[in-house]
Amino acid sequence: STPPSSELLEIAIGVARDAAGTAYRMRAEGVSVAATKSTITDVVTAADRAVERQITAALRQLRPADAVLGEEYGTAERGNQPPARVRWIVDPIDGTVNYLYGLPHCAVSIAAEVDGQVVAGVVRNIHTGEEWTATVGGGAWRAGQRLRCSTETDLAQALVVTGFGYDPRRRAHQARVVAELIAHVRDIRRLGAAAVDLCLVAEGRADAYYEKGLAAWDQAAGALVAAEAGLRIGGLKGLAPGPDMVVAAPPALFDALHDHLARLDASGGP
Ligand code: IPD
Repeated sequence: STPPSSELLEIAIGVARDAAGTAYRMRAEGVSVAATKSTITDVVTAADRAVERQITAALRQLRPADAVLGEEYGTAERGNQPPARVRWIVDPIDGTVNYLYGLPHCAVSIAAEVDGQVVAGVVRNIHTGEEWTATVGGGAWRAGQRLRCSTETDLAQALVVTGFGYDPRRRAHQARVVAELIAHVRDIRRLGAAAVDLCLVAEGRADAYYEKGLAAWDQAAGALVAAEAGLRIGGLKGLAPGPDMVVAAPPALFDALHDHLARLDASGGP
């Protein structure tokens, strides 16, 4: 039998705290680019790898039968075991470029999925220690406070957060969308860590968020936090949120933001 989501969350929180501590110490000792991935701007540091190994080892020890999907190492081998019902989705450092530069907007993100549904998640800011948590149906929380998203109803007064991928052609398309959208909103922010962006929107520190090209580990925990704080999460044109598009907006803003993004073909292009 699978444990309740509250138990999975407690495990995730403990592991994320230790991992964030390691990331913080490694940053203080000095980090540099270890390798590039999809393009020269898509970087990985020794800390991304060390922190993911630490998280995977800790989860293995606590929950040996579970599967783990991580940004740097993919799905860890589980040998000849039956398919796991619980899968952990791990971004050791979301906002790696901020981390590299010492900008305090980066986080460890750990989500627990049961039978394909994310049921618990934690996002912990490596620098500030801010920690956002959620369980499905149990609300979104930070520092003992239940989170509620913005009540803004006018897109023209909405602060919208977004992000860009690493592929230059994709970025050019994303920049064209931003160039058009900015005339219709209060302003646009590119903060640099999707997991944290979703959590800030969850507590109304910005009104809405959208991004094309997110991987599961970028958004699994943050999207649960956002949904539990009252945001509507979707893709474009009735599609589920996914790699083509994740829109997180208060219900009163969702359609207006969605319609601009659909008109601008924000989920299309490279
Ligand atoms: C990236 C960040 C960034 C987003 C990119 C992601 P990483 O994750 O979340 O804000 O715009 O799409 O790839 O590479 O720092 O883990």
